[in-house]
Amino acid sequence: MASNVIWNVKSLLDWTTKYLSKISRSPRSDAEILLSYVMKKDRLWLYTNFDSELSSNVLDKYREIVKLRHSGTPVQYITGEKDFMALKFKISKGVLVPRPETEDLVERLLMDARVNKWKSFLDIGCGSGVISVSIAKYIPDAEVWAVDVSEDAIRLTRENAEKHGVSSRIHVHKGYVELKDVDIVISNPPYLTEEEWETLKELHGEPIEALVGGKNGNDVYEEIIQKYSPKRFYFEIAHPFRQSLKRLFDANGLKYEIFKDLSKRDRIAIVWR
Ligand SMILES: C[S@@+](CC[C@H](N)C(=O)[O-])C[C@H]1O[C@@H](n2cnc3c(N)ncnc32)[C@H](O)[C@@H]1O
Repeated sequence: MASNVIWNVKSLLDWTTKYLSKISRSPRSDAEILLSYVMKKDRLWLYTNFDSELSSNVLDKYREIVKLRHSGTPVQYITGEKDFMALKFKISKGVLVPRPETEDLVERLLMDARVNKWKSFLDIGCGSGVISVSIAKYIPDAEVWAVDVSEDAIRLTRENAEKHGVSSRIHVHKGYVELKDVDIVISNPPYLTEEEWETLKELHGEPIEALVGGKNGNDVYEEIIQKYSPKRFYFEIAHPFRQSLKRLFDANGLKYEIFKDLSKRDRIAIVWR
C-alpha cells in the first residue's frame, strides 16, 4: 500500500481486496471489516462514504492489521469479535472462530426444543461459547452445561456468558462433566481428518485441536456417544456425510437423520438410541 498516494475508502478497499484475495476466500468482506474496525464506524458508513479521504493515522493502523491478516491471522482474532445468532461474541486467539453454518445447527435445535419443551443441554467442545450462550439466551429457562478440553475456550465461554447475562444458567467445566439426565447433547466437534487439515492452509491460524478429530475425523463423536445418553444428539458434521461416521453410528445401534445447511451441504446429524 503506497504511502505517497491519497487513499479514499473505495480505493483502499479495492486495493486490499486484491491483496487479500491470495489468502482469503472473502477478501472484500475482510477488507471492509478491518477498515470499519480501524475507523470505529459500521460497514454501512463505508458504503455511503466511498469518496472520503483517509488520514495517515487511520492508514498506519490499517496497514498493520492488513499485514496481520495477510500472514494468516483470522479477521476475528484482530477485531476480537464475531456475530452469531444476532449476538456479539468476544473472540480470541487459541479458540475457533465460529462459522455461520453452526447457526443452522443451533436454529434447528431451538426450533425442536420449543416443540418438545427440552430444558437441559450439554454443549461439548464449547469453544467461544456461541452455542451455549445462544441456547441460554433464546430459551429463557434452559439450563446449559458447557465443556471443552481447552483452557482458552473455558475462559472465553465464561466471558461470553457474563457478557450476555446468562452465566447463572451456564455451567462451564474443563474436560468432562458427569450428567445422567440431560435432554440434549449438542456438539460441533473437531471433525476434519488429518489429511484434510494438511490441505486447508487457510485454517492453519486456528487451533488444530478445534479442527482435527483424529485420523478419520470421528474421535470426538465416538467419545461423546459412548459417554452420554440424552434424548437426542445434535451434531455438526462434515460434508458429505462420511461413510465412516455412518458406520460409527450403526455400530453403536444409533438412529439418525441428516440435514443440509443453507448452502445445501450435509451439516447436521440428529442422532438417537
Ligand atoms: C470445532 S470447535 C467448536 C467450537 C464452538 N462450539 C463453535 O461451534 O464455534 C471444537 C471444540 O472442541 C474442543 N474439543 C476438542 N476435543 C475435545 C474433547 N475430547 N472434549 C471436549 N472438547 C473438545 C476444542 O477445544 C474446540 O474448542
